[in-house]
Parts: sequence; C-alpha cells; structure tokens
Amino acid sequence: MNKPIIIGNWKLNGSKYSIQTFVRNFFKELSNFKKCNIIIAPPNIYLDFFKNILFNKNLISLCAQDVDFNNYGSFTGETSPLMLKDIGVKYVIIGHSERRFYHKEDDQVITKKFSSLKKIGLIPIICIGETKTEKLQDKTIDVICYKQLNSIIEKMGVESLNDSIIAYEPIWAIGTGKAANPNEVQIIHESIRQFIFKKNSQTAKKVKILYGGSINEKNAIKFFEKQDVDGLLVGNAALETKIFSRIINEISYYNKNNN
Ligand code: PGA
Repeated sequence: MNKPIIIGNWKLNGSKYSIQTFVRNFFKELSNFKKCNIIIAPPNIYLDFFKNILFNKNLISLCAQDVDFNNYGSFTGETSPLMLKDIGVKYVIIGHSERRFYHKEDDQVITKKFSSLKKIGLIPIICIGETKTEKLQDKTIDVICYKQLNSIIEKMGVESLNDSIIAYEPIWAIGTGKAANPNEVQIIHESIRQFIFKKNSQTAKKVKILYGGSINEKNAIKFFEKQDVDGLLVGNAALETKIFSRIINEISYYNKNNN
C-alpha cells in the first residue's frame, strides 16, 4: 500500500500567530511522520505564509480548501487554480459539504472545478457524503456514487479519478462529534471502489478513498485499519497540534499489511 494520506482542514480558523505556533510544535510532536503523506489546508489567505514558514517544505503538502473554476477574469473575491499553483499549492478540496450547503455549490459546479484543476495538474480532493435523512432512507450509495461521483465521471471519464482523492464525509458526522461506524464506512468505501471498478479496474485500484467526519485521536486508527480506508480527512482535531500529531504518529506506526 502507498503512504497513508492525512489531511488537516483548518476551515475558517487560524492567524499568523497560531500558524507559527502550530509549525513550531508540530514537528516536535511527530515521531515517524515520513511514513504519512501529510497535507494541510489553511485558509487561502494564509497559504503562502504557511508555506514560507514550513521548516522543511517537503514534509507537508499545501492544500487549498476551495477554488474557483475560472483561471482569471471578472470574478470578484475568487481564487483561481492558476494562482494556487503559482504559490506552490498541490492539492485542492472541492465539494466540501460546507461549500455545498452554505454556498449552494452543486455537482455541476464541482465538476467544473475538478476539470479546471486537472487541466493544470493540481490534485483534487473530492468530498462526497449523504445527509442523515438520505442515510435513513438508505440512499447513501445513490447520492455519493450515482449522483455526486457520477457527475464527474460522466463529464471527465472515470480515468480522471486515477490521481485524485475521494473523501467520503457523511454530512451528519462532520463537526458533530458523532463519527460514523468504522464497519459501515468500510462497506461504503468498498462500494465506492466497486462502483469505479465496474467502469475501470485500474482506476479502482489507484484512487485513494479517505474517511472524514469527527475524527479524533481515539477513533482514527479504527477507521484507518479498514481495508478500503486509505487515509483520513481531519477537521477540528487538525487545529490542535497535540491531537493532530498523535493521529499521524499512530497511523505511521500502524502497519496495515501485518495486521
Ligand atoms: P471534522 O471535520 O473532523 O471537524 O468533523 C471534517 C471535515 O469537515 O472535513
């Protein structure tokens, strides 16, 4: 298996001071972090600052929390894929449920963002997930595969997922402290992989599928130990240096192949 992927999404939090403190303490706490692919998404305005104070730029990859699909033009307030690339960003989260909900972004818009990122070689992290109601109605796979993922696959082809990351984040688990059940997550991740497998077996093997939603230092390994969980997308717990580094340390020492 490739390196586990651990993403920290800071959302709308942080300041120059807190970022400096984070970087200083983070590396002290980490023991075996080279075994993980650590990706951090600060607010866009701090991306460049964050990059510049990272002690060793190769240890953490820069990620943006969102992006516009236009590269330039009269789109006040937006940040473009080209601009992100220009300052050294490698990954971009798209389709986060907070963007879908508060900014009314639909699958069409998210597909356009995906397309713009792929065109210039940035790696999309596509968030998919169902609401509590959809889960109760047994519609999870319909929503995340046949609707959300399919929107991208139909427009861009399934192979476009080869070097992309999918983050399964049930909406009801995000920021609630109520993470999903790891066994259920495994079943859902397996279904996502099978859905892709039917279209292209190689892509199904290559695509990385992460879980996100109320991950903390106690439950992280319970998700990561599942066969089809290639990593984690961490929100609130990524703001606290000690907790985030503990999650990374645990996952670094866990050898999936031997367990
Ligand atoms: P959470 O957020 O870990 O705070 O639930 C996850 C996310 O929004 O990606």
